[in-house]
Amino acid sequence: MRVPFNYPYITGKEVEHIKDVLHSRQLCGDGKYSRLCQTWLEEALQCPRALLTPSGTAALEMAALLLDIQPGDEVIMPSFTFVSTANAFVLRGANVVFVDIREDTLNIDPLEVKKAITEKTRAVVPVHYAGVGCDMFEIAEICRNDGIAIVEDAAHAVMSKYRERPLGTFGSLAALSFHETKNLVAGEAGALIINDERMIARAEIIREKGTDRSRFFRGQIDKYRWQDLGSSYLPSELQAAFLWAQMERAEFILSARQSRWLEYHHKLAPLEEVGLVRRPIVPEPAMQNGHIYYLLAECRDTRDRLMEFLHEREIGCVFHYIPLHDAPGAEIRSRQVGDLSVTSDVSSRLLRLPLSVELTSEQIDFVVRSICEFFEFDENHLKDQNERFFSPVKSS
Ligand SMILES: Cc1ncc(COP(=O)(O)O)c(C=O)c1O
Repeated sequence: MRVPFNYPYITGKEVEHIKDVLHSRQLCGDGKYSRLCQTWLEEALQCPRALLTPSGTAALEMAALLLDIQPGDEVIMPSFTFVSTANAFVLRGANVVFVDIREDTLNIDPLEVKKAITEKTRAVVPVHYAGVGCDMFEIAEICRNDGIAIVEDAAHAVMSKYRERPLGTFGSLAALSFHETKNLVAGEAGALIINDERMIARAEIIREKGTDRSRFFRGQIDKYRWQDLGSSYLPSELQAAFLWAQMERAEFILSARQSRWLEYHHKLAPLEEVGLVRRPIVPEPAMQNGHIYYLLAECRDTRDRLMEFLHEREIGCVFHYIPLHDAPGAEIRSRQVGDLSVTSDVSSRLLRLPLSVELTSEQIDFVVRSICEFFEFDENHLKDQNERFFSPVKSS
């Protein structure tokens, strides 16, 4: 039984919306579908402005431009993240300061953030790993005292919340991703969430190649001109039309992914009970949005052998984040604070399991059985667990 690691969900409405765009003959950005997507995001997040971008990377680059990050400024972030979190700021000449993550959530550790702050610190970038919220109130408190901006890297965190508040609404800015591996997909796309209203006008200029073309198209001015720094951060209507089909089914996609996540979590509990693996931890104020399900093996060797074992059975599974602090690119402009031992350890032991809307219970069973087989774990424990998962607990 082949189990693909990632299998983007197609709702069936994508082609219809794309055909609509073709008939309209307006293919460039900021048309009907961009507006639908942006309004959906503004309502879902209750934020003053959401702007679609060609990628989550582009949204992070816009955030660095909006904050006027200058050469020599420092930006604190986890090393356990995707390269774009760092590159967006390095491109502006900033020095990236890598700090360690918490052992439980694998999110940036607020205590380490505090230690890393200097008079050059301009921003902190919390990454909500696997869609589980960072300690946003503690981070906000630390940053408020020193006037430091928060840019949430919410690439994984679409439709996730922290203390009932949507992730992406805690920082002055946040970046979302709709890459094909994310919960809502458009091939490549992203969004910049702007929570600080003072940044909206400039964000529109930066996104439109440094011009005030957005105001021109709204009929607010009679010609548009070069105004500021900027680039081409506007996705086409074709991308937006695809994404709109996903947003129309967002609740279904979220709940399908969450239930696959929970199914793994219940079925793998016996392996954790005997100490063979560690499952994800989602502390109370946070929630899981079904974005990533991972296991931590005991050591790198076990993780690598398990990954190979699963690959032999055509089960797609991958490691996640080779830490940025000891990657070759880190030599461009970065430093670390602390030994980042949790980051290095987690990265060597983490294995992501297949997760998608169309993943079936049979496939999940096959993955779990294969993991048990690898560990030579008695499957009878699993049977008990499956019965517990599927039969409602009777109250006595
Ligand atoms: C934490 C994080 N930030 C940023 C990005 C970049 O998003 P995109 O691929 O949409 O550019 C990713 C992509 O996987 C990511 O995982």
